[in-house]
Amino acid sequence: MKRDLVSIEDLSNPALVHLMDLADRIRKDLRGHAERLPGFLMGSLFLEPSTRTRLSFEAAMARLGGKVITSADPDTSSAVKGETLSDTVRIVDSYVDMTVLRHPLAGAARWAARHARGAIVNAGDGAREHPTQTLCDLYSLRCERGRLDGLTVMLYGDLRYGRTTHSLARALARFGATIIAVAEKGLELPDAVLEELREVPGTALWPAVVDDLADVFRRDDVPALVIGPERDLPAVDGPVPLGLRDREVDAIYVTRLQTERLEGESDTYGLPILDHRFLESPPFRRTVVLHPLPRVGEIAREVDEDPRAAYFRQAALGVPIRMALLLWMGGRVDLPTTIEPGAVMEQVTNARCTNARCITQAPLEGVAPEFGRRPGGAVRCMYCEAVAETPAP
Ligand code: NCD
Repeated sequence: MKRDLVSIEDLSNPALVHLMDLADRIRKDLRGHAERLPGFLMGSLFLEPSTRTRLSFEAAMARLGGKVITSADPDTSSAVKGETLSDTVRIVDSYVDMTVLRHPLAGAARWAARHARGAIVNAGDGAREHPTQTLCDLYSLRCERGRLDGLTVMLYGDLRYGRTTHSLARALARFGATIIAVAEKGLELPDAVLEELREVPGTALWPAVVDDLADVFRRDDVPALVIGPERDLPAVDGPVPLGLRDREVDAIYVTRLQTERLEGESDTYGLPILDHRFLESPPFRRTVVLHPLPRVGEIAREVDEDPRAAYFRQAALGVPIRMALLLWMGGRVDLPTTIEPGAVMEQVTNARCTNARCITQAPLEGVAPEFGRRPGGAVRCMYCEAVAETPAP
């Protein structure tokens, strides 16, 4: 079976831990692995801008002794002439052993995987997922906090279009985290992601209001959504006051406003930028600050020198964790179980995907829509995973 990584759901928790253990070993001697994938060729096919993801994948392959070919500028690829993704992928796949793909439409990586003989890695599909950033984020959390289970993590910023938080929230929930999602109105986690989080066994979601951090947020009633273990679910209906002063937030994960995906929507960040004042507040005294980068003003530069600022260390960890992933994809290592129980979708017919930014809506692509459902979950598009329209019962 070929070893694609389309969604973070393609890797079970034991598989994620295994990759991190491998990355720990690789990191001890980054230059000592050049004989592990000789003769392998990786294609980078980036139809959206990227710096870190592409270069860290290319660095990872080079450090393993393999080689890389790149199409990094969407404007010089045949996509601008109107070539379909499926044709482009067929061609690139016929040149290489594995393809790393970034594309502006949700579900593009799943569609690409259907057309490739070699493995496909999703390096970001529209506003949908970014599973290898999640590998890097989880690994950073483990390196910084010494563990992954049961962390308290605040997600802060554009949670609607920031695809990294979509994959990360799912993975964190699987590791029993308490996630405090704070976003400006209109930029909250999308319904499709909330549905997925509800499907994570043992996880509950409840609305809250952060009521004791006015010095940080400049208001006393910041709405938040808590995604946490079912046992912590409050017995009351409606937003519960979330006193944070007495808690310790292990990490705050900041994202930028994804301006490229906003269409006539709010183009202001809305939330206060993260600065020293923020980090002086009790819940953040020992927090680590993560950001997938690029940052465009959400974190004050003064924070860079603070030992809690982990975002540059986080970016550097992208190389060893991607080396570990490439070793698996190249068949050099095996992983315990690659599918989380309950992740497999049962096929459903007679539904409609209404997500305009889904690969199924690309006119020339000719994707036959498919729908599925996880046990107890909603019917979703198999490509973008948005909750699908179904006929009234
Ligand atoms: C992220 C992305 O592309 O989604 N960047 C990255 O891969 N490190 C985050 C972003 O662009 O804001």
